[in-house]
Amino acid sequence: MIVGVPKESFPGERRVALVPMVVPSLTKAGWEVVVEAGAGVEAGYPDEGYIEKGARLLPSRAEVFKAADVVIQVLCYGSNDQTGQADLPFLDRDHCLVGFLRPLGSFETLQQLAATGVTAFAVELMPRITRAQSMDALSSMATICGYKAVLLAADRLPRMFPMLTTAAGTITPARVFVIGAGVAGLQAISTARRLGAVASAYDMRPAAKEQVQSLGGRFVELPVEAADAEDSRGYARAQNETFYQRQRELLGRVVEESDVVITAAVIPGKKPPVLVTSKMVQSMAPGSVIVDLAAERGGNCELTRAGEHVVEYRVTIIGTINLASSVPYHSSQMYARNLTAFLLHLVKEGKLQLNLDDEILQETLVTREGEVVNPRVREFHGLPAVTAHQ
Ligand SMILES: NC(=O)c1ccc[n+]([C@@H]2O[C@H](COP(=O)([O-])OP(=O)(O)OC[C@H]3O[C@@H](n4cnc5c(N)ncnc54)[C@H](O)[C@@H]3O)[C@@H](O)[C@H]2O)c1
Repeated sequence: MIVGVPKESFPGERRVALVPMVVPSLTKAGWEVVVEAGAGVEAGYPDEGYIEKGARLLPSRAEVFKAADVVIQVLCYGSNDQTGQADLPFLDRDHCLVGFLRPLGSFETLQQLAATGVTAFAVELMPRITRAQSMDALSSMATICGYKAVLLAADRLPRMFPMLTTAAGTITPARVFVIGAGVAGLQAISTARRLGAVASAYDMRPAAKEQVQSLGGRFVELPVEAADAEDSRGYARAQNETFYQRQRELLGRVVEESDVVITAAVIPGKKPPVLVTSKMVQSMAPGSVIVDLAAERGGNCELTRAGEHVVEYRVTIIGTINLASSVPYHSSQMYARNLTAFLLHLVKEGKLQLNLDDEILQETLVTREGEVVNPRVREFHGLPAVTAHQ
């Protein structure tokens, strides 16, 4: 069994799907690891590191795909909508592919992938069960994004974060408000607190209150209750426009009083709700900063422009996308550990075994034998279920 690691091809992407430190645990389980030369350089992992740990280097992308039984990537075709298509001719029925596939994105893209015959697994669909916790790449990347969002805000804000008592007087701490206390939001709270800010957060899932408080943040309660706020997988459920309208009205005051607002309120597969309006931005003090972690899918702030920093009403709105790639050393390390756990799960007695009755494989499998087979993905795209695919 050979696992292949091509260099990421999305423009500006600095992560790599596998780092040298995980190679020994894979080889011990019977995997051979092949890596495209230079694949880890941008993330801080030079070629020698892979060789030292027992991986084999191959000079080109085509050779990696040719040699591998399982190809692992960070951004596969699907999440890489710019250069990912170029990988299609390398894939066939004998390949497995594992990575971010954006399964609730373009169905046409998934069909193109399926047409190659590849058996593709989307890490976004990893079930949130204890057994799969070590494979949860979405949480790993969200952790990095939450951390980096606070650093971007701190860098841009014309104030300091901590409270200081100095001979030149007292400096009051920055007030950071996080909207959406999922994994990214909670990490933003921790990071803001470590920098000395006063952090508060709001989430429509009542379960978030305790988590925010356990990190030393203040939970902002709004007199508006979401209907059936959380689904069985722990994700928030989309609400109607009346609910969002009420949220905006109630959030106005808190936003106005904050120096930094970090928005991370998303619903899987849906456009994020607009929770910070242009009027709310206008009410903030000059120099305030908004970091919109939902920017890539449209943003939680009305004035966000994906991939850009904009200044409106003297407030900076940061819509940087792919923040995880800007901390490539650790995001690659975390991702590599997640994928290693997944790869080790595919191996029984030194052999690759795709037990499609297993919940982890069942939920993450997207394409197989020419078809998009995942029931959740098919339902999302309005297609009937396929019959047994084993
Ligand atoms: N293995 C596991 O059990 C596991 C793994 C990861 C996360 N989780 C938990 O799942 C929950 C969701 O985390 P996530 O990072 O996947 O979330 P996410 O990235 O899907 O969404 C971010 C947050 O935005 C919130 N949100 C959405 N719409 C909102 C709105 N209109 N107003 C306010 N908030 C809104 C959601 O409730 C969520 O907390 C968290 O409690 C997290 O700790 C569990």
